[in-house]
Amino acid sequence: MFNIGILGCGKIAAKMAQAIGKTEGCQVAGVASRERSRAKKFAAAYCPDAKVYTGYEKLAAAKDLDLIYIATPNSYHYEHAILCIKEYKNVLIEKPFAMNADEAKSIFGEAKNRNLFVCEAMWTSFMPLHLKMLEWIKEGKIGQVKFITGDLGYDLTEVARLNDPVLGGGAYLDLGVYPTNLAISVIGTDIRATHVYAKRLSTGCDKDTFYNLESGDGSIIADFFVTMSADTAKDGSIVGEEGKIKIGNINTYRKITLLDKNDQVIEEIEADKSTDDSYIYEIEGCKKAIEAGLIQCPEMSWDKTFKLCQINDSVRASINQFM
Ligand SMILES: NC(=O)c1ccc[n+]([C@@H]2O[C@H](COP(=O)([O-])OP(=O)(O)OC[C@H]3O[C@@H](n4cnc5c(N)ncnc54)[C@H](OP(=O)(O)O)[C@@H]3O)[C@@H](O)[C@H]2O)c1
Repeated sequence: MFNIGILGCGKIAAKMAQAIGKTEGCQVAGVASRERSRAKKFAAAYCPDAKVYTGYEKLAAAKDLDLIYIATPNSYHYEHAILCIKEYKNVLIEKPFAMNADEAKSIFGEAKNRNLFVCEAMWTSFMPLHLKMLEWIKEGKIGQVKFITGDLGYDLTEVARLNDPVLGGGAYLDLGVYPTNLAISVIGTDIRATHVYAKRLSTGCDKDTFYNLESGDGSIIADFFVTMSADTAKDGSIVGEEGKIKIGNINTYRKITLLDKNDQVIEEIEADKSTDDSYIYEIEGCKKAIEAGLIQCPEMSWDKTFKLCQINDSVRASINQFM
């Protein structure tokens, strides 16, 4: 049995606990909260056989855990990842991986020194339709890629964590990492941020952010919009010289459609798991990598995460110039 510990008993942790319970050969073996009552309530609801820990240090030091999943607010990912790594634990860290590229570099260094597995919980990277889309591009189905577009917006104005700069709030860090990861997946790591336009909350967190990325040689441009003010279509497209791919929801990959130059549908594939069950793919990916003795997942490599953090730094530095 592959034993997973959950650090932090919040909303996404609840979804992951349920998905882990449905993943073959996996179980939630331990859960930790800052408060015992919360960990007990969480375990009772989602993983009754899990051991309950009060305090993250106790989970980090627990025996017989194959992986610890870190599901705390953005600004704590670094601290909690290092805590677990120093106790010789493999870690799956929620997105955004860290608050900046320097933190990411330090996490990778500490893990590499101890030959430990680390992965960013970028679930889209593990989804079959994301991988199929990349296969279509590699096979030349749409010719040379020219543009990537997408929007990702939810009405999250009431979510306290997202309004608080101390917890790493804001639309870009919460949502922008998905389209940026899409662009890195298609373009590769030779990519940079070019333009940013943002509206910010009185707390300083960005709420509506428009930004562009482009490939190093300037031949591919990405145009993205993320917001925590409203529910948007969430769709994306990859436009090539010979056709295009439409993505039905760039966060959950419900459907991908391949079209030719004349907009005729060549192939259309729908997701075969529900959105909530789609976390299973990343759990399976981590299990497979760890069991193969790898310290990173091929689907979400350290290079990819590091470039994502560098672009996050660049976009966020530009966001800070807006009032
Ligand atoms: N992959 C995805 O689809 C997805 C979706 C949503 C969120 N996320 C990411 O997952 C992380 C958690 O998001 P969430 O929506 O689950 O957040 P949440 O509901 O607020 O849960 C965060 C948990 O972190 C712990 N925590 C530790 N220090 C804290 C502090 N100072 N303030 C508040 N909570 C603290 C708390 O657990 P205890 O009280 O039990 O210790 C809390 O329940 C974020 O990094 C977010 O970006 C990922």
